[in-house]
Amino acid sequence: MNSDEFKQIIKEDTELINRKLKDSIDSLECPEILKESMEYSIMAPGKRIRPIIVIQTAKSLGKNIDKVLPLALAIEYIHSYSLIHDDLPAMDDDKLRRGRETSHIVFGEDMAILTGDSLLNTAVEIGIEGIPDKDPWDYISALGYLFKAAGINGMIGGQVRDIKEDHYAQKLSDIEKTEDLKTGALLKASLVCGSVPFIGFNEEVQTLLQYGNYIGKLFQITDDILDRTQSSEILGKDSGSDERNGKSTIVSILGLEQAKQRAQVYSRMAKDELSKLSGDFSFFYELTDFITNRDC
Ligand code: IPE
Ligand code: IPE
Ligand code: MG
Ligand code: MG
Ligand code: MG
Repeated sequence: MNSDEFKQIIKEDTELINRKLKDSIDSLECPEILKESMEYSIMAPGKRIRPIIVIQTAKSLGKNIDKVLPLALAIEYIHSYSLIHDDLPAMDDDKLRRGRETSHIVFGEDMAILTGDSLLNTAVEIGIEGIPDKDPWDYISALGYLFKAAGINGMIGGQVRDIKEDHYAQKLSDIEKTEDLKTGALLKASLVCGSVPFIGFNEEVQTLLQYGNYIGKLFQITDDILDRTQSSEILGKDSGSDERNGKSTIVSILGLEQAKQRAQVYSRMAKDELSKLSGDFSFFYELTDFITNRDC
């Protein structure tokens, strides 16, 4: 796959995901202000990496994506809720997200908290409504994995470590653990959601999880690098947030140059895992490069 083909797939998948997200928001019946605030955050132009991973994992295995679209949407709902809460004054206190003012700036802190809660709850509903009538169990296993990954020993656990760093030693291994949880867990869940409903937790999935482990680290290292090096305009979110909040990141511990080298190492390790897979995972080689070299 060349980079033009990769870009075309990203464009098509993004359009599909945006259409499905809009349909799901339109179908909600709830107080108008809540619907408006949910739509404001979820329909903002995010990269949609997680649902794209779900779709492309299924396609790489030669499967029909319809079965896993609800899981793809649920992941984007969870991710969007996590961003709203991450930006709150009590957490990273950021004012810009996906090129828009953050939820609490526009709707107030009370509504931002409830909007995050609502997106999470709706993710549960979408995931459950998608349970297939025929052979539901592998789908249900993937759904269970997803909510565990978003939970106390996954993304939420990582966010707690991130804001309560004083409780953890400032070693590189501690920072990596935090980053694996707050970011890697949902990326791994995206791979699980695109594969397990079709093939169960087989050996191929274990290899995919290893791949997910490396792209999780890679994704957060590049996020930490961009926080230091990129403008808010290009990022669509506040740059310099980590330094302002005194956050320990791979970059604050290793410095920019070493962090970039580390990203290259994880990129190679990720691709090594891909080479062990039997399906056509050519999209994921390009995705790995995209994550490594992204500018926002
Ligand atoms: C930002 O995620 C938060 C992290 C886990 C680093 P993304 O960079 O995927 O954000 P969007 O969805 O494109 O806005
Ligand atoms: C947050 O990490 C990861 C989440 C689970 C939301 P960051 O705080 O680094 O994410 P950004 O940089 O604000 O997007
Ligand atoms: Mg944060
Ligand atoms: Mg943040
Ligand atoms: Mg960041």
